[in-house]
Amino acid sequence: MSKYKSSILKLLHQNREQYLSGQRIAEQLSISRTAVWKTIEMLKSQGFQVRSVHNKGYQLTGYPDEWDQDMMQLVTQQSDFFKQRFVYKEVSSTQTVAKEKMLEITEPFIVISEIQTKGRGRFNRQWNSMGEKGLWMTLVLSTEVPLHKIMTFNLFLSLAIARTIRTVGGVDAKVKWPNDIYIDDRKCCGFLTEISGDASAIHHIICGIGINLNHEIQDFPVELQQKATSIKAATGQSVNRYVFLEKLLSELEIAYHQFLTEEFSAIKEEYKYYSNMWDRRLRYTEGRNTIEGQAIDILDDGRLVVRSDDGVIHQFISADIEI
Ligand code: BTN
Repeated sequence: MSKYKSSILKLLHQNREQYLSGQRIAEQLSISRTAVWKTIEMLKSQGFQVRSVHNKGYQLTGYPDEWDQDMMQLVTQQSDFFKQRFVYKEVSSTQTVAKEKMLEITEPFIVISEIQTKGRGRFNRQWNSMGEKGLWMTLVLSTEVPLHKIMTFNLFLSLAIARTIRTVGGVDAKVKWPNDIYIDDRKCCGFLTEISGDASAIHHIICGIGINLNHEIQDFPVELQQKATSIKAATGQSVNRYVFLEKLLSELEIAYHQFLTEEFSAIKEEYKYYSNMWDRRLRYTEGRNTIEGQAIDILDDGRLVVRSDDGVIHQFISADIEI
């Protein structure tokens, strides 16, 4: 591997809207133009698409289909909030890997994998995690959070993810309480928040996020094809996974800081505005109880208020909600 790969990749990625001349790259990195040319040839052989135009220079126009380790380091290092990043080609579940690593690492970190062989969702459901199409990631946040506050974590996080999907994907993403993101009434993202701690406080939040980015509808198992979507399936446009990840990490950092320092009431109106749950009759299941009714509010502690068909008011801490 060329020793200049990372630095040239960084320059090309940061300037991807324009051309950079070989001369400029060489000068900025104090290397020869031949070294620049050789490195660019190597990038191309690794799946990067670099357009070269005489008298203009080089432009990065495409990225490898699989997560590239150097590119991942570059993108994830933009956020110095997550102190360590672990990128794998295949794991059983990033959630499992994160929990093992958590025993030794005390600062925030992320685990990402191209493929998960045993990706799992809420209620122990299987999470479909095929390679090269989505983003399968776990964040570990080491913190002291009072127990009562954790319910709102998902709500802050939902807005951060929905914001990223709207900005990078250019599509109207809605939040579905407590931890899904929908586009056109189909699920494109779910996340799973697990905690470790003791009776007085939480010490770690282990949050696994799965986002469908570049799936075609046929990529989903038949039973999900009416319910699931990806940004590409919804818009017809592929998403650059690195650009998406970069934006997502910065939004997550902001949302986490806000979660620690502010109350849910600070974002409640925005959350309600982007929610897809109002004015519709839905089925809510918590434990063994199922009701049908309409969501009417979210309380400041994050509980969802639902009026069932018989007029009774229910408050949910968590629920499986069918759309
Ligand atoms: C859900 O909607 O039920 C939550 C899905 C969470 C999926 C993510 S993908 C990354 C992390 N690893 C897992 O095994 N699950 C979460």
